[in-house]
Amino acid sequence: MKKHFLIVAFVLALALVLAACGGGGASDDPAAAGEKLFAEQIIGAQPGCITCHSLDADTVIVGPSLAGIGSRSDADTLRESILDPNAVLVEGFPSDTMPPVWSDELTDEQVDQLVAYLLTLK
Ligand code: HEC
Repeated sequence: MKKHFLIVAFVLALALVLAACGGGGASDDPAAAGEKLFAEQIIGAQPGCITCHSLDADTVIVGPSLAGIGSRSDADTLRESILDPNAVLVEGFPSDTMPPVWSDELTDEQVDQLVAYLLTLK
């Protein structure tokens, strides 16, 4: 009986340690935070990225699909695309379609997280 209790206590303690490590690791991962942010339907008062950008290469919503963007872009270009969308336009898409609101709507950290995430889309 006593031995059984010790085993249960040990398993519970182990589960707690694993949960703490897993949870902490995820929130420290900028790309994971960026993935979550990217998927939000509304960010601040704006329709979120996912309402205009699909992650499927063959699906174009309002903006270009971002499938594989990590292979054809780099951190600086992505940052500019988000903060100053009209600076360089993706061919075939008109200006002023991606709202130039993200420098107000996102913190620097959130922009970094989105860029880190987009770079993982190879
Ligand atoms: C209202 C629709 C809309 C929303 C919302 C939107 N975008 Fe865009 N986005 C566009 C359009 C249209 C383009 C293409 C024209 C251009 O380059 O500005 C674009 C271009 C881009 C590009 C350049 C892609 C390339 O191939 O170089 C990136 C990166 C991007 N958006 C990321 C984001 C992120 C991240 C968010 C969320 C913070 C977001 N967009 C929100 C419409 C949108």
